[in-house]
Amino acid sequence: MKNVAVIGAGTMGNGIAHTFAQSGFKVQLIDISEASLKRGMDTISKNLDRMVAKEKITEADKAKTLSNITTFTNINEGVEYASLVVEAATENIDLKLKIFKQLDDACPEDTILASNTSSISITQIAAVTSRPKMVIGMHFMNPVPIMKLVEIIRGYNTSDEVTNTIMELSKQLGKTPTEVNDYPGFVANRILMPMLNEAIETLYNGVAGVEEIDTVMKLGMAHPMGPLQLADFIGLDICLSILNVMYDGFKNPKYAPCPLLVNMVMAGKLGVKSGEGFYDYSESRKAEKVAKQFLK
Ligand SMILES: NC(=O)c1ccc[n+]([C@@H]2O[C@H](COP(=O)([O-])OP(=O)(O)OC[C@H]3O[C@@H](n4cnc5c(N)ncnc54)[C@H](O)[C@@H]3O)[C@@H](O)[C@H]2O)c1
Repeated sequence: MKNVAVIGAGTMGNGIAHTFAQSGFKVQLIDISEASLKRGMDTISKNLDRMVAKEKITEADKAKTLSNITTFTNINEGVEYASLVVEAATENIDLKLKIFKQLDDACPEDTILASNTSSISITQIAAVTSRPKMVIGMHFMNPVPIMKLVEIIRGYNTSDEVTNTIMELSKQLGKTPTEVNDYPGFVANRILMPMLNEAIETLYNGVAGVEEIDTVMKLGMAHPMGPLQLADFIGLDICLSILNVMYDGFKNPKYAPCPLLVNMVMAGKLGVKSGEGFYDYSESRKAEKVAKQFLK
């Protein structure tokens, strides 16, 4: 496997492209937005600079990694020679189904189609293609170049062969793949999101303030980041969408998103990416400080 196409150059897509390119793969990074592609490439370049400064890689490694990435705004052109496509577009079911139909038509018939979705059913995504055996979840964690886990989600029809190929490939990226089955939220978010939602509910009920809630969880539970800061970091829109998928999927009120989360997303307060969430990231220095603290 040499050519990997990545759909979406946002928070996750640029990290996934960076990781494959640094491991020697040729990456076609695809986004409908030129501006996102530019921002994504700038982020990759800055993250590589940080690795050079820490002497984890050389300037030559940085140049090689960047030269392995080509950008596209047209999906069909970007996936033409791909052995694997990793989709990391916006978390929206209709959008993902549309993209996978298009990928199924545009890709060679032996191309494996993976989604980085946080919560949408891999089985449902696979069902709109003519190759459900070759559709799989490859759930990277944020920030992708740093985090070791890849949650590998087997859809109802995903074959053993494709699962094994993707497990091995993830190891080649220096990651630790972990196989799970396809139920709402998979494992990572089924456990994480109710905790983040409960932290928001605790704030909503006036039990404590933002910093107090995060301090309790950081110092009391040894979490590297408080739950409200983590929700900001993930993106409040993403958190809301994952909770809704679990709420609908299990028909269980315990996954109902807190009204405060719903309001904040409607008001455009999405966390780090919009400049404000539970914390204020409006000065670029502040956002950078948060990112650096986590990327240490
Ligand atoms: N943010 C996280 O911490 C996190 C963690 C794990 C998984 N995920 C999942 O990764 C995926 C991407 O999330 P993100 O946080 O990177 O989102 P994001 O909003 O940062 O980026 C999404 C990108 O997709 C692009 N896009 C939208 N429609 C497209 C299309 N038709 N073709 C190509 N590109 C398109 C957008 O222009 C944008 O650049 C989602 O499925 C999300 O659930 C997110």
